[in-house]
Amino acid sequence: MESNIPNEELKTSKLVEAENILEEEEEFHHLNNPADGIKPIIKKYLGIPNHADQLGNKFYFTDGDAKVEVVVVTDEIIRVRLAPHSVFLEEFSYAVPKLEHKAASFTLYEDQNEFRVATKAINCHIRKTDFFISFSDSSSHVTSMDAVPMHWEENVQFGGYYVFCTKTCASGESFFGLGDKPTEFNLRGKRLKNWNTDAYSFQWNQDPLYRSIPFYISVNEGIAHGIFFDNTFKAQFDFGAEDPTKVSFWADGGELQYYYIHGPHMMDVVKSYHILTGTHPMPPLWALGYHQCRWSYYPETKVRKITNGFRENKIPCDGIYLDIDYMDGYRCFTWNRKYFPDPKKMISELAADGFKTVVIIDPGIRVDDNYEVFKEGKEKRYFCRRSDDYFMEGHVWPGRCQFPDFTNPEVREWWGGLFDELVQMGVAGVWNDMNEPAVFGAGTFPDDVRHQYDGYRGSHRKAHNVYGMQMVRSTYEGLRKIMKNKRPFTITRAGYSGVQRFSSVWTGDNVASWEHLKLGNIQCQRLSISGISFCGTDIGGFSGEPDGELFTRWIQMGTFSPFMRAHSAGDTKEREPWSFGEPFTAINRKFIELRYRLIPYLYSTFWEHHRYGFPILRPIVMHEQDVVLNHFRQDEFTYGDKILVCPVMEPGQTKRNVYLPKGKWFNYWTLEVLDGGQEVTVDTPLETMPIFVKAGSVIPEYPVMQYVGQHEIEEVKLNIYFTDYEVNSFLFEDYGETFAYEQDIYLEKKFVVNGGSRTMTISQSMEGLYTPRYEGYHVNVIGLPFKPSKIIADGKTVSDFTINTDGTLEFKFSKNFKQIEISK
Ligand code: GLC
Repeated sequence: MESNIPNEELKTSKLVEAENILEEEEEFHHLNNPADGIKPIIKKYLGIPNHADQLGNKFYFTDGDAKVEVVVVTDEIIRVRLAPHSVFLEEFSYAVPKLEHKAASFTLYEDQNEFRVATKAINCHIRKTDFFISFSDSSSHVTSMDAVPMHWEENVQFGGYYVFCTKTCASGESFFGLGDKPTEFNLRGKRLKNWNTDAYSFQWNQDPLYRSIPFYISVNEGIAHGIFFDNTFKAQFDFGAEDPTKVSFWADGGELQYYYIHGPHMMDVVKSYHILTGTHPMPPLWALGYHQCRWSYYPETKVRKITNGFRENKIPCDGIYLDIDYMDGYRCFTWNRKYFPDPKKMISELAADGFKTVVIIDPGIRVDDNYEVFKEGKEKRYFCRRSDDYFMEGHVWPGRCQFPDFTNPEVREWWGGLFDELVQMGVAGVWNDMNEPAVFGAGTFPDDVRHQYDGYRGSHRKAHNVYGMQMVRSTYEGLRKIMKNKRPFTITRAGYSGVQRFSSVWTGDNVASWEHLKLGNIQCQRLSISGISFCGTDIGGFSGEPDGELFTRWIQMGTFSPFMRAHSAGDTKEREPWSFGEPFTAINRKFIELRYRLIPYLYSTFWEHHRYGFPILRPIVMHEQDVVLNHFRQDEFTYGDKILVCPVMEPGQTKRNVYLPKGKWFNYWTLEVLDGGQEVTVDTPLETMPIFVKAGSVIPEYPVMQYVGQHEIEEVKLNIYFTDYEVNSFLFEDYGETFAYEQDIYLEKKFVVNGGSRTMTISQSMEGLYTPRYEGYHVNVIGLPFKPSKIIADGKTVSDFTINTDGTLEFKFSKNFKQIEISK
């Protein structure tokens, strides 16, 4: 390989040019720069690449001082790292536990203009004149390009560098992702910050919130790519806010390290992001039911009153939550015996009635030498310390507290073990709160707090954004050990990329307002495409008072949140699904029942997430990214890929427009068939909300039960929607509560539906080692364009069938059928 001789003159002039470009950005980059005012800032840029080296799938380029590493991870993923003085940090990431190299082929090319690392799908170009890095696809279409060379500033206070990357932004480019940002779905024109923050009653556009997910997807000219900036420090993203021609991301420390993820579809990007950061493990089936929470249900009689209320009102419910008042003086892992004299007995009685008890745990441990958890943590030096080795102390619910350093594996192991007693008492799930970490008054820890960081030590600047994720990781891993083969359920407020491997999340302390209903809809879609599929909002709004209409509309939307929980603050009125009287109670019941009927569909969609990396909620743009108008649609979304919903988010709304992607769709309520690729007007009386099912879908349904597993399932209903083009559907089944699926003990069924003017066929194939206990299907065929007279199933004639007044065809058949043919 020929190497370039550095041209000092050119290098200097390039630097001056880059300085000029960056001058304009000075203010832009320094708004939140704590180094400001301490010392004049010296910004440095990559010079001219004069040398390239290859070490397996890693390529190194240097300007003589700084070094850039380009790693081929898969054919679609390339990682770029910068070492300002050629020394890279040791590789460690909480987000990417194992960087598996899965590339089929890669080659380094060099010509007089550039170096180029090529895989089967993408090229990473390193321009020789200025070290600009760009990416193109296999047909040489450039998808991403530096606007200035990667650059950095020395951090005189803490050491290390502030690191910056600025790329060009096209006029029609849109941006999506970044986790829980409470703003429009398309992030174009916004500047956003990642710094986990307790944000009680947050507002539209408030930033930052509880989670840091430094991953975004760009769509330009119908082609998508993703950038995952795996840096845990306080980071910012500017999507053309400062300058519409530039997109930038930068952080207050750590390495400039990002993954370029190729599309061309948004779905490809999300799936690849899941390859890097993982997916949610299969949840216990009951966790897909309805959960009831409040700050707080106590004493025990109150808890029983609520759970009895569900059974009396015949409203299904699986999860019941205990907020901080179950503890003794808010000390984690203790019980207030006045309120809960015999928790084990209460939990087992609740369990006998189908309720799974979920308890809250916060990270703050009360400073109290008579409290075992504090004593042990202190003795073993498990709590965080300041730079001068003094304890990190702060006030939270219990008063003066110290905080475990969850970035220390030994601390995680200890904390995980503390759940033993709760699990022995029958607790089924743990709610991890206040783990941004939140501290009253101060907001969070001071920057100088030290963390063990799995041996890669650092200050709180580096550990802040992963603190909550490591707390819930310790909870999940501890529960998994204690519960052995049973699946734990966890929920967390704070998180960083990859938190989905350990927990579900909720969007935090929202408000009982119509605006928050809209925000919650956007936030869940955004979380879902940012790796966090198992998500939901506090249904009804945490603070403030919803009226019956708002609560019911929220229950309707929540029916289609992967995680469905109502929660409210302590100073609000009663907030159960029956609290608002009729007609609300009946509608809430109808929707919660729908949730339970669709559990096998949601569970199968969850499997698609867990196993294959699909998000559970899919925004419209993910279906049709080539239509620019769709980049701005944020109300409707699909739940899996077969059901489209559009929450009603205005009071008194009796009609609304809904966009249906191309194809044919059935109105779930009226069974009317509509052509997609257009907006349709839908009636939205309070009893319904727009739900559409894709033609050709097989939607499995369980009978309504008051809780998951209340009765043995005797048959599964298959709602089959007619299609005149071939459509595939899936049904995933297993034990629903063990990890046997990791040993391939599950059943994955595939249905293929197709039809014409005189016939319709449904075929089924199966893979896996699990056998469900029910014997048959109750088949319900919807939308046949002809009057059926003959049904042949696996060669046998089915003579017992019904044609209903609405034209649907019903009959029963064995769950093991291979092919059913219905004809005129
Ligand atoms: C925080 C949580 C909220 C909880 C409360 C009391 O505000 O976000 O859900 O109810 O603390 O524990």
